Amino acid sequence: MAAADAALAEGRALGSEVPCEDVRAEVPGSTDEVIVLDYGGQYSQLIARRVRECGVFSELLPHHVGAAEVARRRPRGVILSGGPASVYADGAPPLESALLELGVPVLGICYGMQLLALGLGGRVEGAEVGEFGRSQLSVTGTGRLLAGTPDEQSCWMSHRDTVFAPPAGFTALASSTASPVAAFESDERQIYGIQFHPEVVHTPYGQRVLSNFLIDICGCEGSWSAASVIEEQIERIRAQVGDGRAICGLSGGVDSSVAALLVHRAIGDKLTCVFVDHGLMRKNEGEQVVLAFRDHFKVPLVAVDAEERFLARLAGVSEPERKRKLIGAEFIRVFEEEAAKLDGVGFLVQGTLYSDVIESGGGTGTATIKSHHNVGGLPEDLEFALVEPLRALFKDEVRAVGAELGLPDRLVWRQPFPGPGLAIRVVGGEATRERLDTLREADAILQDEIRKAGLYRELWQSFCVLPDIRTVGVQGDERTYGNLIAIRAVTSDDAMTADWARLPYDLLEQIASRMINEIRPVGRVVLDITSKPPGTIEWE
Ligand code: XMP
Repeated sequence: MAAADAALAEGRALGSEVPCEDVRAEVPGSTDEVIVLDYGGQYSQLIARRVRECGVFSELLPHHVGAAEVARRRPRGVILSGGPASVYADGAPPLESALLELGVPVLGICYGMQLLALGLGGRVEGAEVGEFGRSQLSVTGTGRLLAGTPDEQSCWMSHRDTVFAPPAGFTALASSTASPVAAFESDERQIYGIQFHPEVVHTPYGQRVLSNFLIDICGCEGSWSAASVIEEQIERIRAQVGDGRAICGLSGGVDSSVAALLVHRAIGDKLTCVFVDHGLMRKNEGEQVVLAFRDHFKVPLVAVDAEERFLARLAGVSEPERKRKLIGAEFIRVFEEEAAKLDGVGFLVQGTLYSDVIESGGGTGTATIKSHHNVGGLPEDLEFALVEPLRALFKDEVRAVGAELGLPDRLVWRQPFPGPGLAIRVVGGEATRERLDTLREADAILQDEIRKAGLYRELWQSFCVLPDIRTVGVQGDERTYGNLIAIRAVTSDDAMTADWARLPYDLLEQIASRMINEIRPVGRVVLDITSKPPGTIEWE
């Protein structure tokens, strides 16, 4: 720390500086922080989340931000993530040596370890065989990093280059079949490396290794929790909004719900929520939002029944992107109309999450109005200052805050639901009220059965699709010509990839039988067994 402080005090550049939005200001000031530098690894966000699970606040920054930007945050330690490049490839992200002069411990994971090894004079080579997936680790000496873990343990690897010899003065701690040096450390220099991925669940001692680094080596307290930000946030929101008034678009999703509740805790009735019911929600969903916010939490809520308007817009439209655009534009129109009816609103509450901040490149901290994934893109010229109390939090942390604030489980654990709602699940045809009603009933049966089977939280999403086709059937002595309902249920971590869920046959039978018996227009039920890729989760 001292070196970094001195460098800053003298205004010395520690490297090329790229200012990066500092979400740390949004957590308690006394919190320990560890920076994860992202070298493009598949699991970089997961590293930051696992660090937080150890009770240490962490930010994920692009590797090129520069040591000065890292130093500015006064971290207790730095973690270099994995990455797809070979350290020998042209244009491979380099190690900035100034990072090693910050005076805080540095842990390299996979590519990060190879960078350290190469930069400090160790030997890194492309191995004959890569090591992908589960591997067996033999620990020769635990050092501080692997303390408390067994001599033989399994771990998750994903690399081709590997460290053949540690830098001079470093101790090799472990090896695997394809990695002669799978972990090393120099306690004197406070530099540590592991070839395996501690952040994935397939590395059973991964969390222990991270905790050794964070708590024992970096000296962090480990007292951070998502819920601990609530009081701090409330203070910050009060300071920001002062005597002003704020508005929040509620979608029924967990992000906007938690953001609204936090802001309501902070400024009470100076917050008004607007819930636009576009008639494309699932069964009873609108009522549940009104019940929770207006009746239970006593949040001033304007609930707009805009079903007629949206259905009129959607008349004759079957092309999916056009549906999305029309719904987005109509949403903005309704929201603006409601906002205009409220006097003196200067602030707009948004449920922006830390993953949105990371994905938009970290931002520069300027508060411009961004399009909101929940409310379908608000216009650039809305004259509001943004209040974004969840900007430093990951989704699972937002759920924890929601639970702490007393949000009902149904809202805390709600599966993601697309802004355009059921309209994009009436596939290949017009989203008429009749079709939407059929789809809504089918969806309600699916959700009911999945909840009864205790599977709701295990699934990323479960929903029904109504393609614009009819199929022949026979019921009693009659020939039928009814709608087709497709069941889509997937498991996923982030919606980037997804696997079709292996729902039990008995459950599928019960769902299909109820749909056909209880919903007159439905004549056939099918199951979608496509993963993503090659399919997407939604059908259009
Ligand atoms: P896909 O279908 O691309 O979906 O695999 C990935 C995730 O995004 C959701 N999704 C949307 N969300 N507006 C939204 O707010 C949309 O137009 C939209 N389309 C897809 C989808 O439900 C899944 O969670």
